[in-house]
Amino acid sequence: MRESYQNRLNEGAPRDEFQPRSTPRARIVSSIECPPAARALSPPRASNRLMLPYRLLAPVLHRIDPERAHRAALGALKLGIAGRARGPDDPRLACTLWGLGFANPIGLAAGFDKDAEVFEHMLALGFGFVEAGSVTPRPQPGNPRPRLFRLTEDGAVINRFGFNSRGLDGFVARLRARAGGGIVGANVGKNKDTEDAAADYVQGIMAVCPYADYLVCNVSSPNTPGLRGLQARGAISALLARVLEARARSAPDPDHPPPLLAKVGPDLTEEQVCDIAEVVLGCGVDGLIVGNTTVSRPSGLRSRHREEAGGLSGRPLLPLANACLAAMYRYTRGRIPIIGCGGVASGADAYAKIRAGASLVQVYSALVFHGPQLVQAIKRDLARLLAADGFENVAQAVGVDQALGAASTSPAATGAQGDR
Ligand SMILES: Cc1cc2nc3c(=O)[nH]c(=O)nc-3n(C[C@H](O)[C@H](O)[C@H](O)COP(=O)(O)O)c2cc1C
Repeated sequence: MRESYQNRLNEGAPRDEFQPRSTPRARIVSSIECPPAARALSPPRASNRLMLPYRLLAPVLHRIDPERAHRAALGALKLGIAGRARGPDDPRLACTLWGLGFANPIGLAAGFDKDAEVFEHMLALGFGFVEAGSVTPRPQPGNPRPRLFRLTEDGAVINRFGFNSRGLDGFVARLRARAGGGIVGANVGKNKDTEDAAADYVQGIMAVCPYADYLVCNVSSPNTPGLRGLQARGAISALLARVLEARARSAPDPDHPPPLLAKVGPDLTEEQVCDIAEVVLGCGVDGLIVGNTTVSRPSGLRSRHREEAGGLSGRPLLPLANACLAAMYRYTRGRIPIIGCGGVASGADAYAKIRAGASLVQVYSALVFHGPQLVQAIKRDLARLLAADGFENVAQAVGVDQALGAASTSPAATGAQGDR
């Protein structure tokens, strides 16, 4: 018999750590590297439920500079021509974390909607949650262009944006004005020229806390000098203590503040993973995102852009991100929810992250290559993989590869056809 995630977590974990909390923001909304054969059950295909199939748009978007293409995509979303997903998600995909009801575990990672302009449009595409940001307290332009590169042959992206941000004021105003439901996280960073980094995070968290469903301190972007140093044991411990205190002061309901997560990178050493795990288990942070882009350049990259400076994301990041996720799940002993991020491009990729220890999964770079209909394809295939392995819901599959040992592979995944 498979032991439920909740049962395993309850061993030694504070009783209410994962229990739903009642909060005004809580609402139910409308979804280790795998064997190659498991890559996905079927390729993302244009859905006739979306108004403009991405396969028609992609050749145009991919001929223009990536940053302009991104702006064009944001414009298309605002005009409503990217369409919307219809119909409820498979009930198997529903999950509850921190008292928030997720219709599905597939989220949009930070960086796509840095200024909180299109989170409602992205929710309408079928994401179970959307993370806006990273936002910095004051507006700043980021690094000089070009600073975004498509590595098409590798299914990857390199960016060195350096927290281009229009600042907190507009970001908060747009979050405050949101009309619809859905789960929206706010990811905060620091201005490049701020010396007391924690002060920026405190300012950001206090500003977004009343309007976001969850909060993220991004301490892992490789494009802001010194930022990743905040992942060191002493630094992250001091930072999180200040930020948690700021959250307590600014939460509309102090008994039920929005969950606070730290986003870490995939380039951590095992010792750093262990340190961070100990800190987060001890300090009251609610979750982790593992992780950000990598400064490494895995062998085998073919694109002429592979030596560009910045953070690499997309397909080549998957093994590194999954190894880091699995290590973090082991060191945190499954006691704190982890959002798995990095390299997901199929339902099988998402499933592998869940089996490695992710309670939720985020996607960004694969959207560049597969378009918005990827969300529906990931959810469809994930639901099939869960069903084929006899899981009634996502929570039952979280961390099973860790619990069963590294040799365990998913029967459904092993039998699936690769397609990427
Ligand atoms: C163009 C770009 C900009 C990004 N900006 C941010 C950011 O502002 N804050 C952040 O936490 N992560 C940012 N990220 C990292 C993503 O959220 C994600 O962690 C990473 O890309 C790995 O996921 P993926 O392989 O699915 O893209 C950015 C990624 C890309 C590609």
